[in-house]
Amino acid sequence: MNHKVICWDCGMEIEDPYADTCHRCGGLLTVKMDLEPVKEMKPEDLASRPMGVWRYHPFLPIDVDKAITLLEGGTPLYPCHALEEDIGMQRLHVKYEGANPTGSFKDRGMTVGVSRAVAVGAKVVGCASTGNTSASLAAYAAKAGLRCAVLLPSGKVALGKLAQAMFFGASVISIDGNFDDALRTVRELADENYLYLLNSINPYRPEGQKSVLFEIMDQLSYEVPDRIILPVGNAANIWAVYKALTELQEVGWIDRMPMLTGVQADGSMPIVQSFQTGRDDFDPVPTPETVATAIRIGNPVSGRKALKAIYSTRGCAVSVTDEEILQAQRMLGRREGVGVEPASAASIAGLIKLRASGEVCKDEKVVCICTGNALKDPDTIIKSCPPPMQSKADASAIKRLLQA
Ligand code: F0G
Repeated sequence: MNHKVICWDCGMEIEDPYADTCHRCGGLLTVKMDLEPVKEMKPEDLASRPMGVWRYHPFLPIDVDKAITLLEGGTPLYPCHALEEDIGMQRLHVKYEGANPTGSFKDRGMTVGVSRAVAVGAKVVGCASTGNTSASLAAYAAKAGLRCAVLLPSGKVALGKLAQAMFFGASVISIDGNFDDALRTVRELADENYLYLLNSINPYRPEGQKSVLFEIMDQLSYEVPDRIILPVGNAANIWAVYKALTELQEVGWIDRMPMLTGVQADGSMPIVQSFQTGRDDFDPVPTPETVATAIRIGNPVSGRKALKAIYSTRGCAVSVTDEEILQAQRMLGRREGVGVEPASAASIAGLIKLRASGEVCKDEKVVCICTGNALKDPDTIIKSCPPPMQSKADASAIKRLLQA
């Protein structure tokens, strides 16, 4: 065993594979990896495997030979010169997580999480989701031959994500309530051992999500960026990136950390509110609302971990309006040819806001993590673009339209 599960708050070792919080103090759980063997290695030693989550198997708590995998990760890191010009900066990269098998970064955590479910003998897996987690879990459960139940906030899940969860054969349950209500309910089912919970409160999920940072470092030849910006919803991903950084530091592969910068939507910003007042805990937002439905979350389970990640790296948390999100989404599409869903565009919108206020300086090296594919939410795109022009099938009519 190259790891143990411990309580993030009191340090107690947790043996129960179904536990999602500490029996003693109720704290959040985390995986403690034994990285002693990795200290003898160099990044090049991992390069014989293709870029992707399992390249980094010495940092993962699952035996690579037992992985349930759809060959996730290995996503592009795009240099964005047009955006650099527009925003007034010199080095900007976008890590395009929309290129994962189900179109979001969730696949990184799910390959590890579902492999763990199989290892502990689970037969039924489940989650609450704003959409992407359910799409990803449904696919990996199909691959593993497990039953899968997903609880979704009624009417608030983007079309592409809902279609994926249904298509991969999950039992899809629409909940009268928001994501926070759905998560509370699925946790009750997990407490009764009715299903194995695969929300990111499961400490194996962030382990897989660490790989986005490992890949960014590989793609930048281990030149540490000044800042990494990402959207924050249930708040596990920013924590996963931070955990990856601490582990790279522990094995001596990096000697400094980028400023981790979390972006939330104005209507759903519990972490930003805490950051503004310097608190390390947060007050839930009772009725979160935003066009970026993926991050429409008022009570982020990993919120305290996210704040730790932000403070420890001298980063920050910032909120953006729905209009700023949609504008950033269009800008990335039209200037760079990169299609992301609204929540993912929040990272670009946050960068634009922080650059305008001077918080981000022009020579900072920045990586924005864009977490999900544009096709996840076609309705929002269609609403935010001019409609198609109508024409009869006639070349000169079309020429007239194109000249107009
Ligand atoms: N971006 C996208 C596209 C997401 O789907 C999510 C979360 C986030 C960012 C935020 O990541 O929760 O780790 O802070 N989606 C979850 C879901 C909640 O159910 O799909 P986080």
